[in-house]
Amino acid sequence: MIKTNICDIFDIKYPIFQGGMAWISEATLAAAVSNAGGVGFISAMNAGVPYVREQIRKCRALTDKPFGVNIMLMSPYALDIAKLVIEEGVKIVTTGAGLPASYMPDWLAAGIKVVPVVPSTAIARRVEKFGATAVIAEGGESGGHVGELTTITLVPQVVDAVSIPVIAAGGIGDGRGIAAAFMLGATGVQCGTRFLTATECQVHENYKKKILEAKDIDTIVTGKTLGHPVRTLKNAFARSYAEKEQSGNVPKEELEKLGAGALRNAAVDGDVAQGSIMAGQIAAMVRDELPAKDIIERMFEEAEKRLEGASLCLV
Ligand SMILES: Cc1cc2nc3c(=O)[nH]c(=O)nc-3n(C[C@H](O)[C@H](O)[C@H](O)COP(=O)(O)O)c2cc1C
Repeated sequence: MIKTNICDIFDIKYPIFQGGMAWISEATLAAAVSNAGGVGFISAMNAGVPYVREQIRKCRALTDKPFGVNIMLMSPYALDIAKLVIEEGVKIVTTGAGLPASYMPDWLAAGIKVVPVVPSTAIARRVEKFGATAVIAEGGESGGHVGELTTITLVPQVVDAVSIPVIAAGGIGDGRGIAAAFMLGATGVQCGTRFLTATECQVHENYKKKILEAKDIDTIVTGKTLGHPVRTLKNAFARSYAEKEQSGNVPKEELEKLGAGALRNAAVDGDVAQGSIMAGQIAAMVRDELPAKDIIERMFEEAEKRLEGASLCLV
């Protein structure tokens, strides 16, 4: 059985986080992952207090296991949500898109374990200084907003840069990915794309279908010129966006406008032609819709076998 310091710190059976996914990871998915022995995360995205409070309470009704809230620091409601998680007694917070420095003292005083997503060693070192419990080193293979480095290059460098535990994210789609992440020095993993087709995932059926049909080269990164690149599946929306971006003739404000609401269009309304289908490069490895429990158990069974077999190449 695989057991790491992440299991002890977060009081969980399997060292796996379900990454926060805007418009997608709400209480039902988060609770299913937590009930299965990982940590599920409610995405606070750009939502205000009433929605996030409702999701936290719903999740608590569905599980007595640890779960968390993912806070996008660019959200206009970030400060309100930062206060809400304390008020609601949330135990784990992950953060994305920025530095959580100003919120950390209050979170730590409230006993919240804070795990920022980091794209570089410099940011990993900074959040360690602020008191982060662990970091999520996320490589650019991932779905959603991406950094420059790949998981295979970022994880070992972050492991060397900090002394807190490192959770690897980006491109982990099965037990082989988990085993590889552990070989790089991570002691936990975070997955997003793999959970898009969990039975409990409330994303629109059209979105799930696109993931199940994806091929290995079907993702594209757009938004680099805006300073916040995003990985999605190629579709009419992504192709037209990329063309406009590459032409250099479309003002940045217009590109920003085009992107706004696009994930919601696909994830909630099911418009998989004109919406943004955020997904990582492992989308083509996701070939079935399964309960979160089965996804996690299968991944860890396979990881265990791979790790046991790793010594076979020694002579
Ligand atoms: C559809 C989608 C939406 C995402 N939204 C967020 C988000 O709101 N906040 C965040 O920190 N990360 C977000 N992510 C990143 C995930 O939390 C996770 O780190 C990433 O998916 C891991 O890589 P993988 O997709 O290869 O598994 C998103 C990813 C996807 C696929």
